[in-house]
Order: sequence, then structure tokens, then C-alpha cells
Amino acid sequence: MHDTRPVEPAAWTGSGDVLRLLTCGSVDDGKSTLIGRLLYDSQAVFEDQLRSLERDSRRYGTTGEDHDLALLLDGLQAEREQGITIDVAYRFFRSDRRTFIIADTPGHEQYTRNMATGASQADAAVILVDARKGVLSQTRRHTFICHLMGIRHIVLAVNKIDLVDYSHDIYQRIGDDYRRITDAMDFATIVPIPVSARFGENVVHRGRLTPWYAGPTVIERLEAIPAATAADDLPFRMPVQWVNRPDPDFRGLAGTILAGQVAVGDDVVVAASGQPARVDRIVTADRDRTAARAGEAVTVLLDTNVDVARGDVLAAARDRPEVSRLLSADIVWMSDQPLLPSRPYLMRIGSTYTQASIVRIKHEVDIDTLDRRPARQLGLNAIGRCELSTAAPIAFEPYVRNRDLGSFILIDRFNNQTVGAGMIRFGLRRAQNIHAQAGLVGKARRAAMKQQKARVIWMTGLSGAGKSTIARQVDLHLTEHGLHSYLLDGDNVRHGLNQDLGFTDADRVENIRRVGEVAKLFVDAGLIVICAFISPFRSERRLVRELLGADEFVEVFVDAPLDVCRRRDPKGLYKKALAGQIANFTGIDSAYEPPETPELTLRTDQLTVQEATDRILGLILRA
Ligand code: ADX
Repeated sequence: MHDTRPVEPAAWTGSGDVLRLLTCGSVDDGKSTLIGRLLYDSQAVFEDQLRSLERDSRRYGTTGEDHDLALLLDGLQAEREQGITIDVAYRFFRSDRRTFIIADTPGHEQYTRNMATGASQADAAVILVDARKGVLSQTRRHTFICHLMGIRHIVLAVNKIDLVDYSHDIYQRIGDDYRRITDAMDFATIVPIPVSARFGENVVHRGRLTPWYAGPTVIERLEAIPAATAADDLPFRMPVQWVNRPDPDFRGLAGTILAGQVAVGDDVVVAASGQPARVDRIVTADRDRTAARAGEAVTVLLDTNVDVARGDVLAAARDRPEVSRLLSADIVWMSDQPLLPSRPYLMRIGSTYTQASIVRIKHEVDIDTLDRRPARQLGLNAIGRCELSTAAPIAFEPYVRNRDLGSFILIDRFNNQTVGAGMIRFGLRRAQNIHAQAGLVGKARRAAMKQQKARVIWMTGLSGAGKSTIARQVDLHLTEHGLHSYLLDGDNVRHGLNQDLGFTDADRVENIRRVGEVAKLFVDAGLIVICAFISPFRSERRLVRELLGADEFVEVFVDAPLDVCRRRDPKGLYKKALAGQIANFTGIDSAYEPPETPELTLRTDQLTVQEATDRILGLILRA
């Protein structure tokens, strides 16, 4: 029967005979009962294992009292370091044939991100339906997430079959309904099983009350699901964890082989840059090796000194990952702060970090109906198909081919929280064959001709704080000093270049991104660019700062208390906003994030226009 031998921790995470399983359904569907039944009937409680886990969770865990079994899954480690609270519990048990890791996530729709996290690690899913209720929209939702996250095998547990008198008809109808909703999804196998978790029917033991059912029990089916493609059979991939350089004669690239095999003499490349090399030596902790395979931690020495850093991927020269800066990906959003196109995020793919932004949301998937609908942003738990651009070219593989090299997370650059998870579909070719062309006249020369230092004076603050008024004065005075300046003002730019944009958060982000690009071009032309925009978000002000050189961005906080701005109300807009005639008005029903470390703050409720202008001029003329 099902033994209770303790299992070495390594066996839990290795491939081979481990099946990682996700369970989907609500408490009402009998999910906990089913899991309990699986564990109980297979007598699988490993005292030793639990004890060591208990120790570990006390040391590293995040779940308090509960055993933090997730510690055994590598994939989550990094998210943990990022501090996101993903509510996934893992349970372990073993049958005669294999070891199982069950991921269990709360079933409510709010928890898409939890489920997606569990699913990203899983080979198969057990989806529960209540035989009395049949296939519900939540069933469809769970199934879609399984599909999205690359799960290949589904066990449909038609539970509570006892409550419908062990009806063959009902079982069959639910199976048919389920096949219909999965028509467009790409699963390798779907096996519906009539189950009574409560009475143990067809879970571990074959039931006597469903004589019409000749298929496998749940445990039999789970034992029979083929293991995922052996990682050994894939092309060689090894992310470099660190460059080991104890002395000038030794330069080893250390990492764990993610896929495939490598042997001395093999031709390899650094995936993103394409630099070729040949493998000279393969070193492990105790000895040199002639070859190594997926799962092994090795140090590889190459015949040439290629340029390589932590996070780069070494790959088989004959079968390389794709490299691109523009990607199509499905993104599961995990943050209360919506995903906004154009906003810069930090992207982690493998162990490489780069900056990335969403260029376009192609559509959002309504997770209940699976309909696609247009979207300008993605909220918490939303799923969208997006186009992304990255600051540096990245090496990747489509998620369906390689989950490790095909998935990424997006991180908020201010609070370091994981805000999204993505599955890459393919690289987009659009931006290929476009190379930056250096001109013959540089920025420095252009600025020198004008006898000035080119830069951006970025004025941010509430509507009515005085940005435009001061900006116009600064522009005038600079001109009178014989300097070359140009003024970009929200009210003007929004009549031309940005006439397609309104005042939603998403539009404001795009407004500032475009203005930042224009300001950068003007700086390149040698000008002093004065920008007067509410620019309410830190993230985009920082984006513009980073577009420019270190001392080319001068942030001026034009600061007046909200009630002063409201009293001034130069354009009558506060009045309208308060009367509900303008939506998304900054300071009323749209946020303003004040600068944390501006180069200059002007309290315009305490300074005259002349004084404020002089302070800015002082800053410019001094340097
Ligand atoms: S930003 O937020 O995207 O930086 P921007 O500076 O370009 O805004 O434009 C702000 C100007 O648009 C304001 O000075 C005001 O005249 C006008 N405006 C119209 N509607 C709004 C609104 N809902 N919120 C803020 N400003 C608005």
C-alpha cells in the first residue's frame, strides 16, 4: 500500500518522480476534505519531514504558526525575498509510485494571484466541482488560470457524487460541459472522476457505489500522469549565479544547469550578447567532470574570456534562447496599484534585472466569461495580454517551452514589492534592425555654442500652485540674459502632441513619458528646457530624471497648500471639480505625490512670483 517512508528534502524539489499538483475549488466544493482524504487514506504523514520543516519555517518562514512548506519550493523563494504575501500552502505525501507536492490556495476570485503562483509550479491540477452544481464560472476561472500558467493535465473531481445518488448521467453531463469550456484551451489530458471525498469513494480506494465507472481513482490517475518533459532533453541552459574568480588564472561561471546537458568541448554562447565560447572544464565541488546535466550545480570554465555577469544565461550554441527587447506576454497583476502602460517597472527574469514598461495592453481577459475586452490599465488580480519593452535585450524562451526562462516578475521600483507576474509568448520583431545613430555634432558642442549648460528645469505641483506663471518669467529672464531656453507647459502640449490624452492615471503617465522624451531631445539640442506639469507621480518624474544625465534634471517643487490653490483657482477648475463637473482633478479626486528630494522647493504662498523666479534663476546662472 502507500508507505510512509520519509523523503529527503532534495526529492521534493527534484524532477523525476515528483508530481506537483494544484488543487482548485472552494471549501464548499469539498477541497479540504479531498486533500484530507488523499493524505489520510494514503497514510502519508511524515513525522521527520514535518519536524524539519517546522524548524525551517521558524527560521525563515512567513506563515507564523503554520508549517511553511513553501520553503521547499525554489520558485517562491525570490517572491518571499520581495516580501509579497502569497497565500499558498503546500502539502507533501508519497504513494508507492511517486511523491506529490500539493499546492492549496484560497478559492475565492480575489486570490487569482495566489492561484497563479501555485499553478506556476504545478504539473497537474485537480479541479473540484460539486456534482449538485456542475460547472460554474469559478470552474472556468480556475481552469483558465491553469491553462495560462502552463498546466498540462487536469483531473476533474466530480465531488459529492453521493449527494446525487451516484448518478452516472450527472457525472457524464458535467464531463461534457467541462470539455466544452476547455475547447479552446490546450490541455494534454482531462480525466473526470466521480468522487465522494467524504466517504472516500474513488479517491484512494475504489468505490463500490459507482459500478458504472471503470476509470482510475484520483490517486491512480495522479500516479499515471507523465512527468514533465525531462529537463535533460531540452537544449542546454545555465543562468550564471556568480563569476568565480579566486585568482587571475581561474575564471569560472558558477550556476545550476536549468535544462539540458553540457560536456567539455561543447560550443556555447552567452545568450543575450551572442558571444561564443567553448567549454574547457566543468568543475563540481569535489572533482572535474567531463559532462553535467540539468539540476546539477557546476562551475564552467570557457576557452575565451567572454563578457559575462550574474544573470546571463549560458546556452547551447546550436539552439539558443530568443533575444529581444520587445515581448508579447500574459500578465497577472498582483498589486492594488494598477498596472499603467508607460510606467517603468523593474523586471526580474531568471536572476537578471532590467527596467521594463508595458507599451500596450492588447486586451484584458474577463476571467469569468473569458471574453477579451479593451483595457487601459490592469487592476488587482486582472489578467491581460500585453506588449512590453525592456531597457536591455533579454534572453528568454516562450513560457510553454520553458517556464523558468519564459516567466518574469515585475517589481515596484519604490517599495520593492512584486506587483505582477508574466508569461512570455514570443518576442516581437517590430523594433528590430533599428540602431541608434550618433550625430556628428554632440550635445556638448551645441550647448557650448550657446554658452550654456543644457538641462531640464522640471516644475511639479498642484494646479494653481504657480508653475506656469513662474515658468514664463524664468523663460523670459533667461532669454534676456542671452540664454536659449524653451518652455513646455501642460496646457499647451495637451493641445498638440498630447491632444489624445485625458486625466486618468494612465494618461498622465503617458503625458509625462512623452514630455520627458521631448525634453531629452531639446537638451540634446543644447537648450535649457523649462517644464511645467502637475506630473503627480514620483515614478514618472523619476523616469524623466533617468532619461537625462546626472546633473541635467533639476526638480522644482512648486508648493502651495491645497486650500491656497483652491482659493486662487485661476482657471475656475477647482470650483468645477468640487461641483462634480470635472472628474479626476488633482488634489480633489486624483492623487498628488510630492517630491521627496527636489533640488528646490518654492513655497509660493510665502514667496512673490519675482522671488520664486529669482531662486530658479540663481540656480541656473550660478552653475
Ligand atoms: S499632468 O497631471 O498630466 O501632469 P498637466 O500638467 O499636463 O497634467 O495638465 C494640467 C492642466 O490641465 C491643469 O493646469 C489644468 O489647467 C488642466 N486640467 C484639466 N482637467 C484637469 C484635471 N482633471 N486635473 C488636473 N488638471 C486638469
